[in-house]
Amino acid sequence: MNGATPPTGVDLPRRAGASKAPAPRHLSADTLVAAREIVVLYPEPRSALIPLCHLAQGQDGWLTPEAMVDIAGLVGVTPAEVLGTASFYDMLHTEPVGTYVVSVCTNIACLLNGAAELLEHAESSLGVNAGGTTADGVITLEESECLADCDRAPCAQVNHRFVGAQTPGSFDRLVADLRSGARSGEIPDHGTLIRVRRSTGLQADPAEVASERAAMAEAQAERAAAAAAKAAKATKAAKATKATKAEGGS
Ligand code: FES
Repeated sequence: MNGATPPTGVDLPRRAGASKAPAPRHLSADTLVAAREIVVLYPEPRSALIPLCHLAQGQDGWLTPEAMVDIAGLVGVTPAEVLGTASFYDMLHTEPVGTYVVSVCTNIACLLNGAAELLEHAESSLGVNAGGTTADGVITLEESECLADCDRAPCAQVNHRFVGAQTPGSFDRLVADLRSGARSGEIPDHGTLIRVRRSTGLQADPAEVASERAAMAEAQAERAAAAAAKAAKATKAAKATKATKAEGGS
């Protein structure tokens, strides 16, 4: 932590029905600074939901319920909506995982090249079934769909880094290297998507974003008013037609 006071950013519109956001309590000061920098890049704060989930996962290694509450408050949705979105994506873990998530592909190209045998060996050597975490908390083993590395079948990833074709022997060496930290230079702990934060590139002035959001809200209100007026007019016309028919029939 750098002790800096997190910027308050711009006023974040909240989805209708969402309760008032509590102050973030779980995310660190540094994570909050990064989160608010991301939120102001989007016209709709909720569009920042997934990047914020990755940010929180980078802090804790997985997406904790407490982090989801903070994220919900930052983007103006409910914690249930954060969970509903996060649980859809394989890269986001809503349960604790090991320092290294090892994904073994068992899709068709890998399956034809020995993936089932490789996974069986992995389960046996690690002492956990796919989806489980070793007792020392270092390795979580996953069975994965195609990892887009089919020409190196049967292949694996560790924390979303390609580690290429694997045999039972190379898998054991990989695990030994992970446990000893020999590959920590190329494979950071789970949750770390990047090690270097962007210092240049897309920047947004909070005042400008606030102004654009106000203009967008005004345009939305105008469209809603026009739609309501159109609906009222149609209802009135329908009633008039009905009345005319009723008079004609009496
Ligand atoms: S089938 Fe395994 S990486 Fe594509």
